[in-house]
Amino acid sequence: MNKAVEINKDDVSAQPVLSRTIVLVGLMGAGKSCIGRRLAQRLNVSFVDADTEIEQAAGCTVAEIFEKYGEAAFRDGERRVMVRLLQGTPTILAAGGGAFMDAETRRLIREHAVSVWLRADLDTLTARTKGRGHRPLLNGADPRETLAKLMDVRYPVYAEADIAVDTGADNPNVTCTRVIEALVERSDVRVQPAAGSP
Ligand code: S3P
Repeated sequence: MNKAVEINKDDVSAQPVLSRTIVLVGLMGAGKSCIGRRLAQRLNVSFVDADTEIEQAAGCTVAEIFEKYGEAAFRDGERRVMVRLLQGTPTILAAGGGAFMDAETRRLIREHAVSVWLRADLDTLTARTKGRGHRPLLNGADPRETLAKLMDVRYPVYAEADIAVDTGADNPNVTCTRVIEALVERSDVRVQPAAGSP
C-alpha cells in the first residue's frame, strides 16, 4: 500500500520557484530573448518566446505571416498565443515588441504576470537589429527612423510595465541581475534564484 505523502505548506522546497509569469516587454533589439534565457536559467524555470510559439502555431515564420496574411492577422494570432501562455505554468515569457500595445493583453499581463520593460536607447536598438532580416517592421528603407517612431508611440505604453530596467552596453548578466533584484523587492511575486547564481 502507498504511504500517504503529507505536503507541508510551509516547506519552501514544495512550492514552485516562480509564483507568477515574468513577461519581458520592450522594442525589437531590447534583448528580451537574450535576457529572458539567462533569467530563466538563473531562476531555474522555463523560457518561452512568444514569437516562436506563434510560428509553431501558424506553421510559418513571423515574416511569412506578415507577408501572406498581413499585420492584423499576426496581431490576432499574437493575442491568442499570449492568452494561452499567460494561463499556463509560470515561466519567463519574452513577448513580441507589439504585444504589450494591445489593451486586452496588457490587462491579462497585469492580472496574471509581472511585466518587465527592458528599456534601451535608439543607438542600442539600431545596432542590435542591424542586418537581421527576420523582423518585417524593420525591413523598410530606414530601420533607425522606424525604431525612433516606434519609441515615440510605444515607450509611454511600455512605461505602464511593473518594472523598468535599462539595457544598453552592459553585459547581459548585469542586466539580468538588475531584473532579479527588482523582482526580489516585489511582494506580488516570489522568485528563488538558483543556488550558486550570482
Ligand atoms: C514586432 C516585434 C517582433 C515580432 C514582430 C513584430 C513588433 O518581435 O513580434 O516582428 O511589433 O515590435 P521581437 O520584439 O521579439 O523582435
